[in-house]
Formats: sequence, C-alpha cells, structure tokens
Amino acid sequence: MSAALVVGTQWGDEGKAKVIDYLSSKIDFIVRYQGGANAGHTVVVDGETYIFHLIPSGILYPNAVCVIGNGVVLDPEAFRDEVRALARRNIEAKERVIISDACHLVLPLHRIIDAHRENAAGEKKIGTTKRGIGICYGDKTMRIGLRAGDVLHADRLRDRLGHILEIKNYELKNLYRLPEVEFNALYEDLLAFGNEIRGMVKNTSLLLNENLAKGKTVLLEGAQGTGLDIDFGTYPYVTSSNTTTGGAIAGSGIDFRFLKTVTGISKAYVSRVGEGPFPTELFGAEVEKLRELGHEYGATTGRPRRCGWFDVELVRHAARVNGLTEIALTKIDVLSAYDTIKIGVGYKRGGEKLPAFPTDGYLEGVEVVYEEMPGWKKEIGHVLKYSDLPPECCKYIRRLEELCEVPIKLVSVGPGREHTIPL
Ligand code: GDP
Ligand code: IMO
Ligand code: MG
Repeated sequence: MSAALVVGTQWGDEGKAKVIDYLSSKIDFIVRYQGGANAGHTVVVDGETYIFHLIPSGILYPNAVCVIGNGVVLDPEAFRDEVRALARRNIEAKERVIISDACHLVLPLHRIIDAHRENAAGEKKIGTTKRGIGICYGDKTMRIGLRAGDVLHADRLRDRLGHILEIKNYELKNLYRLPEVEFNALYEDLLAFGNEIRGMVKNTSLLLNENLAKGKTVLLEGAQGTGLDIDFGTYPYVTSSNTTTGGAIAGSGIDFRFLKTVTGISKAYVSRVGEGPFPTELFGAEVEKLRELGHEYGATTGRPRRCGWFDVELVRHAARVNGLTEIALTKIDVLSAYDTIKIGVGYKRGGEKLPAFPTDGYLEGVEVVYEEMPGWKKEIGHVLKYSDLPPECCKYIRRLEELCEVPIKLVSVGPGREHTIPL
C-alpha cells in the first residue's frame, strides 16, 4: 500500500518514461498528474518504440490501470489520436484508462491562442509546444475552464461552454484579431466526446486512495521536469504546472502519507527544448556531437534539443524541492564516445560562488565551474551488472552521487527495458 513518484530533475526529456516503464511491471495504477499533450514519453520494448503524450506509459502492461488525474489538461483530439494509434497496435486503451472528472479540457481555441501568442511574441517567445497548455491552465486558474465531468451532462456543458466562449470570443476578436469560435459545432463535438469517455470518468482521488488503503500500488508519472516547474523552474521559461512533488499530490488527490519514494530522473548530461537559460549549454560542433550521439530531437515537436553537460546545481535544487529519495541516471551510454567528461559543479557570478540554483529565474551572468573526469571509451549498452561497467564509468556515477547528495539507485544504458542496471 504505497505510492511511488517519478519526476524529471532537469528541463524534461530525461528518460522518465523509460524508467517508469521499467518500474511499472508490478504496479496496479499508473497516474499522470500534471501537464498534457506537451509531454512526449518514449518507451522501447522488444525493439518497438511507443511515444505517449497523455496516456500513462504503463498502458503497455496488460493489467495496469492508467489514470489521467485532476491536475492534467486533457486535449480530446490528442486523446482520441493516441487511443487510435494504440488500437492499431492492439492495445485497447479505453478499457484501462480512467479519467478524473475534475481534469480540465484543452479546447482547439487554447491551441490557436497559444500558437498565435508564440508567433507574435518575437524574442519574448517561450518556445512552447503550441499544445494550448498554458492557455488552458490560465482558464483553469481564472475559473472559467471546462472539465471532463462537464461534458457528461448536456445542460451543464451548454451552460459552461456558453460562459467560456463569451469570454474567449471577446479575447479572440478584440485582443488577438482572430476568428471567433462557433458554439454549436464545438458543443456537439464535446458532447460526443463526453459519450466516448462516459464509462471512464471517475472521482480518481477516491479511487486511488481506496485502492492504496486496500494494499494496491500506485506510480505517479511526472511530465516535464523541475527546471520547467511553474514555481521552481526558470520562470517565465517554464511550463504552466507544478511538475514537482507538490504537484503530484495536488494533481492526483492521493493522501501524501502513501508516498514512499520519489525518484528523480537525471540524464547523464542535460537537454532543453524551447527558450530560456541553460548554464552548461554547449554550442557549435560540441552540441551537434552530443545531440547526434543522444538522438536529442523532441518526441512531441521534433525540434532539435539544446544539449550541455550535467549541471549539479540544477539537480541539487531538484533534490530539495522534490524531496528526492533516489536518482535514476539515464543515457550514460551516450557519453561512451568522450575522452573526458565535464560536470558543472557550481555557479559563480562576478567571481562569487552562488549558494544554490537561483529561483528568481535570472541566470544571466552565471559562470559555471567545471570538473573534468576521464571517459571510459567503451560501449556499455550491453552491460547488465554494475560491476561489469568500466571503472571510469562507475567513478563518474559515484562522483555525481556524491555531488548531488542523493543515492543513485538505477542506471540506464540504452532505450530498451532491458538496458537498465539496478545499483
Ligand atoms: P521523457 O520525456 O523524460 O520520458 O523522455 P523522452 O522520451 O522525451 O526522451 C528520452 C529519449 O531517450 C527517448 O528517445 C528514449 O528512448 C531515450 N532513452 C531513454 N533512456 C535511454 C538510455 O539510457 N540510453 C539511450 N541511449 N537512450 C535512452
Ligand atoms: P516531457 O514530459 C521538454 C517545454 C517547451 C517550452 C516550455 C513551455 O516529454 O519531458 P508548454 O507547451 O508546456 O507551454 O511549453 O516547456 N516543454 C517540454 N520540454 N519535455 C517536455 O515534456 C516538455 N513539455 C513542455 O519546450 O520550453
Ligand atoms: Mg519527452
């Protein structure tokens, strides 16, 4: 009767889904608790690649129940696409997905406004995924959003959709100079969506807590990463939800006392998509080398990811704000080609050491202090045991553990389920 949480410790794409898949084999419920179809979670099983955006990665295990929690923003179109894509691969997601009645729905107008604002923002753009995420969370906070429970009832939907469209159409017309949204077509589509998901919509907080109390196990699947958290990330270059442990509790409604482990996923280097500060970033031929070695292209948008060396201050910050009990270190195989490997071990500004990762979002003028370690120059993708890793690789792992002050309990040496070494 316990819950485990997996969170990203960097700027997303740390390999969370790969580790979630590895941890899910004996889990009863796998829960997404924040974010939406901005996430791109890749799992490779028996050489087959699956990319999830909304549906928890645990759907690949036939007995797992997958929950879309109240903290998620669910896009009906993205959800339908994902269900169809899974059905083509003989996975009937609809039979095993439960949706919180309180999760907010992303409407086409949210996507339109997101894209429009990004395109108009010039150098102030965030580099969003244009999935409407921030606009939908904005309406949630403004208390005009539509929730999954609303689309089950024609009268309630008519009332709430009428209200949101009154406000959004005013914005579309007067603020953005964009076409207004016609009520009837959207109403009919949402009503149809309500009928499609009727059997799946539940009070998921009650469901999860009752099952936890009965001894079932829950795995909470974080999306994005700590550097993208709305409070603890590099604001304003963040996503619009709490990606961290607090968000997991608020976004799932589980009693926090069930939560026993918080695993932070850290890539052995760092990547970032979109705008915003990135102190250990590499440029030119150096970034191209790392990007190609790590195949660092966005799983949602296909954008080339920015890449750089491991940043200890960022992960120490993640350890604090998430209460990490352990770290899973991923993609260490990608560093096998290097003669020497750098680790960003601290920040300085104007010659003075910064005490910690700054939470005011200003990393301008930050200089990174690096340590350099010898590489191992051997392929490690086939290694199954820690003791079979090259000694330089073990030293790199232990040095990161020492610097981050969190035990590293899992090392990932390839994208497949089998490429995972418990420590
Ligand atoms: P997530 O968003 O955190 O789940 O990560 P993504 O799926 O967006 O990106 C991680 C990418 O790295 C995916 O293509 C994974 O298949 C791949 N991957 C995960 N772990 C490893 C690893 O240990 N080694 C290598 N080479 N690839 C990995
Ligand atoms: P996973 O779960 C990496 C980034 C976007 C942009 C910022 C805001 O796969 O790790 P948004 O569309 O959320 O308003 O964009 O957040 N971003 C991600 N970067 N991985 C993700 O998810 C991301 N989800 C959003 O690139 O910089
Ligand atoms: Mg991703």
